[in-house]
Amino acid sequence: NEAQPFYGNHQAGITTPRPAAAMTVAFDVLATTRADLQRLFQTLSERISFLMKGGPAPTGDPKFPPADSGVLGSQIVPDNLTMTIAVGASLFDERFGLGKVKPGHLVRMTGFPNDALDADMCHGDLLLQICSNSNEVNIHALRDVVKNLPDLLMVRWKQDGFLRIEESASKKTARNLLGFKDGTANPNATDEAVMNKIVWVQPNAGEPTWATGGTYQVVRVIRHFVERWDRTPLHQQAEIFGRDKVEGAPLGMKSEFDAPDYVSDPKGQRIALDSHIRLANPRRPETEENLILRRPFNYSRGVTKSGQLDMGLLFICFQSNLEKGFITVQKRLNGEQLEEYIKPIGGGYFFVLPGVPTKDGYLGQSLI
Ligand code: HEM
Repeated sequence: NEAQPFYGNHQAGITTPRPAAAMTVAFDVLATTRADLQRLFQTLSERISFLMKGGPAPTGDPKFPPADSGVLGSQIVPDNLTMTIAVGASLFDERFGLGKVKPGHLVRMTGFPNDALDADMCHGDLLLQICSNSNEVNIHALRDVVKNLPDLLMVRWKQDGFLRIEESASKKTARNLLGFKDGTANPNATDEAVMNKIVWVQPNAGEPTWATGGTYQVVRVIRHFVERWDRTPLHQQAEIFGRDKVEGAPLGMKSEFDAPDYVSDPKGQRIALDSHIRLANPRRPETEENLILRRPFNYSRGVTKSGQLDMGLLFICFQSNLEKGFITVQKRLNGEQLEEYIKPIGGGYFFVLPGVPTKDGYLGQSLI
């Protein structure tokens, strides 16, 4: 029942370890004036700082609808809740006159060759990422936001995610629904210097001043064809990723956290040249600027019309430069062997607002 801090130079939910339950919700902003937009950010900040800290649920006159959904009872528990606000390129259109201060790389996500993007699952003026130890806490938080901002926000699309968090071993990497450990080679999120390099926009980065301390967030809803995957030989599954399935070690190595050796394997005899990890991160000095912080969750949402299981990866990553980060890495992955088993169907590009350093501030204050 831990509370994550709301105040700080950066928002929570980025370098925070992944909890068991997640939700990404994209909204259209209904505000029409800059003053409305300010009210939106102020109200959001108030609600988020309250929900992340927890406390007694507000009560009111029974003649009116209850102030709180009641999903968590009379005591709102934080349960590791983080609520992270990011904005999409569309917020910088003519409506609010913010065009001049749009983060330099923020664009509307365009499709990659293997994508089959569903328009109902893409983009948005605002993205709310909600993570905590349980679905109920996330749903309670979302309903609080929706209830308090009916005139300013409309839900556009939503995707839930989950992870199996094993409590006993602190260094255990959660698995994705293809059965592989996912997150092994991530940069160290507890190392501030590393995060300043890879994730947080720095003052001298050529971005608008207000964006310092923020980061670009990519969300991709990537369906898995699990029936086909489950009929694929184990050695082939390992070759596709470049890692062994049980331990998660790079092929030819023993342990999960051993570094893959590409120098002595230039032809890809141990780890194929078109394997996922080798394309995603070739580990050459010149590809170091393409490192990203991944924070994905699994999803499962019923069955397709043709009777296939509809599940996959709610891929989320953060980087200080969208072009050098996700876009470059995804271009390198285009045509990878894994494509036969996956289909990106939704998501978007967003910019995570800098944090709120002091109690009198609010999210988006530097932007408004
Ligand atoms: C590594 C799975 C999509 C970037 C990995 C690993 C797995 C994996 C199992 C190895 C373990 C690890 O280091 O975490 C998947 C699956 C995907 C997917 C199932 C989609 C269905 C993506 C996308 C990107 C990406 C869209 C970025 C464009 C990376 C990177 C690594 C990685 C950078 C680390 C490589 C390294 O440093 O050695 N992924 N991934 N992945 N993936 Fe993905």
